[in-house]
Amino acid sequence: MAALRVVVLSGSGRALLNTSKSVKTPVANMSFGSLPRSRKVALSTLGVVTAGGAGLALMLHQSVKASDLELHPPNYPWSHAGPLSSLDHASVRRGYQVYKQVCSACHSMEYLAFRNLVGVSHTEAEVKTMAEEAEVVDGPDDSGEMFTRPGKLSDYFPKPYPNPEAARAANNGALPPDLSYIINARHGGEDYVFSLLTGYCEPPAGVAVREGLHYNPYFVGQAIGMAAPIYNEVLEFEDGTPASMSQVAKDVCTFLKWAGEPAHDQRKRMGLKLLMGAGIVVPLLYYMKRHRWSVLKSRKIAYRPPK
Ligand code: HEC
Repeated sequence: MAALRVVVLSGSGRALLNTSKSVKTPVANMSFGSLPRSRKVALSTLGVVTAGGAGLALMLHQSVKASDLELHPPNYPWSHAGPLSSLDHASVRRGYQVYKQVCSACHSMEYLAFRNLVGVSHTEAEVKTMAEEAEVVDGPDDSGEMFTRPGKLSDYFPKPYPNPEAARAANNGALPPDLSYIINARHGGEDYVFSLLTGYCEPPAGVAVREGLHYNPYFVGQAIGMAAPIYNEVLEFEDGTPASMSQVAKDVCTFLKWAGEPAHDQRKRMGLKLLMGAGIVVPLLYYMKRHRWSVLKSRKIAYRPPK
């Protein structure tokens, strides 16, 4: 058993270098050339099929995008776009006003309750008054009848139509989608919705749009069932901001962004805290690791054959 003596040397390891015997380690031969023929064929086929599939997928992907009439929305400089920027809450408040006065005529936001607005864009007292204006069907009461009552903080936003069929019937067969998560549900997010809202224009020469549809280059297929919902001065903002078309669109998009991601601000604040914490903890941990391992890392193990 004593044939193998392991000597632990601390320091430069010169002892190991001085040992006369050179240590030979086996090296696996992994080169393509040394494989048997069948393996070579199989591997080549796999490579060609993978590359071809990827190329085809890329071509299909781009060919859909390259339809010459469809516009991809540009990147707008949103004030909340930075990694550490919060939403503009004054804009969220104006955006709610736009939704309430314009979009809610056709679009529901069924995942938002009045209470969600408290502390975000409105005070609790303001939201209570707003909720009370909504008529909510509740019940049944003692005699088994449904009744309406003024809304409460815990009620969800009222829907414009009782069911999707009614919504379609009122909109030429087109269904106005629920706007709660629309920013997350469309490519381009708020850039797309902003472009869609402000992008209505005359169809180019030779393009005919069916009765009841409207031309919009940002919409898939360019013919959308929603008539341009906003224009300059479509409403009057309660804070006196001039209600130009782009201002209204920007505010409603900021509101929809908040609706789709209510934790947006907390997420970025957490990220900042994490970065600051990690800035202190990571170097400390690294130093400690080097410190603890220094003994093990600087020792050398050499094999001295028995004489
Ligand atoms: C008169 C009813 C009406 C109003 C008001 C209205 N919309 Fe629409 N909206 C529709 C209909 C109908 C569709 C479905 C269009 C289609 O599928 O062709 C739609 C579709 C949309 C879409 C989805 C487009 C897509 O990519 O599928 C968005 C986003 C949208 N509306 C946002 C808004 C916003 C924001 C407002 C308020 C500023 C608003 N709408 C006001 C009727 C309306």
